[in-house]
This record gives sequence, C-alpha cells and structure tokens, in this order.
Amino acid sequence: MAKPITGFSKLTKAQKIDWLLENYFSDSESARKTVTQYFNSDEKLQKLHDEFIENSISNFYLPLGVAPNFIINNAFYTIPMAIEESSVVAAASKAAKFWMDRGGFKANVISSVKIGQVHFTFSGNKDDLIRYFEAIKPALISETAPITKNMERRGGGILDIELRDKTAVLENYYQLHATFETLDAMGANFINSCLEQFAETFKSHAEANHIRGLNVVMSILSNYVPNCLVRAEVRCKISELKDKDIPNPEAFAEKFKQAVAIAEVEPHRAVTHNKGIMNGIDAVVLATGNDFRAVEAGVHAYASKDGTYTSLTHCSIDNDEFCFWLEIPLALGTIGGLTSLHPLVKFNLELLGKPSAKKLMEIVAVAGLAQNFAALKSLTTTGIQKGHMKMHLMNILNQFEASENERIQLVEYFKNNTVTHSAVVEAIEKLRN
Ligand code: MEV
Repeated sequence: MAKPITGFSKLTKAQKIDWLLENYFSDSESARKTVTQYFNSDEKLQKLHDEFIENSISNFYLPLGVAPNFIINNAFYTIPMAIEESSVVAAASKAAKFWMDRGGFKANVISSVKIGQVHFTFSGNKDDLIRYFEAIKPALISETAPITKNMERRGGGILDIELRDKTAVLENYYQLHATFETLDAMGANFINSCLEQFAETFKSHAEANHIRGLNVVMSILSNYVPNCLVRAEVRCKISELKDKDIPNPEAFAEKFKQAVAIAEVEPHRAVTHNKGIMNGIDAVVLATGNDFRAVEAGVHAYASKDGTYTSLTHCSIDNDEFCFWLEIPLALGTIGGLTSLHPLVKFNLELLGKPSAKKLMEIVAVAGLAQNFAALKSLTTTGIQKGHMKMHLMNILNQFEASENERIQLVEYFKNNTVTHSAVVEAIEKLRN
C-alpha cells in the first residue's frame, strides 16, 4: 500500500506520475506508456487542459459523436454528443430521422429563473428578524452593485430576495431565498458572489439593528431549478407513426403510451426510463461545456417533486393524435465557464449555430426526448438487445483486435446468429484456427 504524501499538488506532472508508478503499479513502464500516450503533442493545448483541474496527470478521452437531421422548431440541427456508451448516438440519429418526416420536434423555454440561498440560524424573535430583513433588503441589493452591474446592463440580475422561515423543519433555521436571471451564463459564479455579498451585508448591519444570535451557515446557489424549465414535444396523427418497425401504428401508440404510464407509476422503471433520457441530455450538456452533475441532480429532484420518483416524459393519445413530451429544469450557459476555453466546446457551440442559453435548453431537451422515444420504440417493438448486441459485437471484435477481413466475416455470420460474448469469442477462435 502507498504511503500518504504531503505536498503532492506542488510536484510537477512528471513527478506526480513517477510517484503513482512507484507506489501503485507492478509494471510501471507499461503503466507510464498508458498514461502518457494521451498527452497532447500541442503543448499549449495540453497546458490548457491541465489547468482546467488540479493534479492533472493525463487526458481522459470520451468519443464525440454527432446526430444529424434534427428539426427543432422548423430549423435543422446536427447535435454533438460526448458519451462513452454505444448505441446512444445511433438512437438519437434514428429518432431525429423518424421525426424529421413527421414535422420534427417543438421546444420552448417556459421559465429561466435560477435560485440561490443564504442559510442562517437565528435564535431571537421572528418579528424582529422580519422587520430587520425588510429594512435591510434595499442594502442587500445595492451592496451587490459592483457584481451585478454588467449582468444588469445585459438585462439580467437579481429578481428578488425573500426571507424564508424554515424553523418548522429545523430549529432556528432561516434562509435568504434569492432568485436570479443570468441570461446566457449558467451563472454559478455570479449567483454565489451575490449570495456571499448578501451574507456579508446581512451580518454586518445586524448589530446596529439590535439583531443578535444570527449566524450565517453557508451561501450557495441551488441546483434545483424548477422554474428554469423547458418543454420539448413531438406529435403526429397515429396513422403517420407507421414505418418498417411499426406495421400497426394504433397498437404501437397504445403500447408506447402504456410504457410511459408504467414509468409514471413505478419508480424502478422510472429510474431506468429517465436514465435513458439522461443519455441524450448529459451527452449534449457535456459536449457544450456545461455541468452535467448539476443538471443530473436538478432533473432527478424535479422527477420526485410530488413525493414519488416518476417519469420525466409523458404521452397522450387524443383524437387520433399521438403526443409525447418532456418537461425538465435545465440551468445551462453558452457564455463563460468552459464555453470559451475548451476548443471542442467552442466547435460544438458553433455547430449548433452559437445558441443562446435558452436555445441550448431547447436543443438539450429535444436530445433527451429523442433518446427516450428511441429507447421506448425499441423496447416496445424489437427489444433493446438487437441493436445493442450489434454494437457489443464491434466492441468484442476491437478487444480481440480483429482484422478487417475477420470483421467482415464475423459481422456477416452474426447477422443470423445470436451475439453473446462467448459466441463471439468462439467464432473468432474458430476463424483463427
Ligand atoms: C440504456 O442506457 C438506456 C435504456 O435502459 C433506457 C430505457 O430502458 O428506457 C435503454
């Protein structure tokens, strides 16, 4: 076992790698090769990536794919997706093409309000606190002026600050609950800076206003943004659903609706159903330099907002019309953060036509809806394994470093034989002997 180390962050990258190899790897030269082969030969580019995080030792690649043929609000998009899971990009592309012939996707941003909170405790009289809050509120706003100036010039800023009494759930617990409009920025830094200033102002004037026993615990934005909402939908006449996998559109529509209904009432299924939605969402969120952990946390909180974890998508059949939609909170940015730093993020944003944050919310929501449509279409018709196993076959062939000739023969063979890991290994061995 390795010994603890002090001053690790001060070591150079080469020294960090040496320390790891010495302490954790039996074949250190092969491990060195593995970790260094991902260095970028362009030193400037490598330095840029190294500086995104701390203790960087190499680059961890994810494939970047694209799903073309998306029509969103009557405009064409090719959507970039950064993801390691096979079949996701293919599924998105298939869903895009399916809906391209049926009017495409519609999406709209319902609201774009972000939230931040100063959490504090107060042991005194509640009415005194309310009076103090009302008196200090103008100063809470005005003392953030140096932070909010630019955002306000562009049309955003602080929307409101409320005092919230949370003492029913935790003794002496109150909040300054603030709302923000951050336009094209995700706004985390802006919101957190405002909140820390609110806390400072709130504390520093307390004494003079005879408020004692007020303790700020922390100031931080919330990744739960139920009022930063986007909706995406597809709809068409049931008869128009017909395609090669859907010979009977009426039966398909009913079964599809039933699959959504199951996810609406059964949390075990809802989690997997929503995971499929997040396959599409995270891939675009990541490709556009946004924070997928924040999105994940917020989306799943939204999925359980009524007390039970449920489906993020819904389906209706009315007057012979099939409608399938998704409504999710998404706090995204198209300026600031990684968006101007990571060259591939810039590339992806340009690919999407340099969207505003609202436009990106629409695109991301559509990617999620498309993914869910593709998954449910497979699950309720052919089953999911057919497509998956085709990709699985390619992964196994890569693992065995199959030659081009071997690939052609094995792909042909598995057109009529079931793909399992052992069946593929057996077929490779047979071919090679
Ligand atoms: C796999 O990554 C995603 C699915 O399981 C989603 C679903 O079941 O709806 C196929």
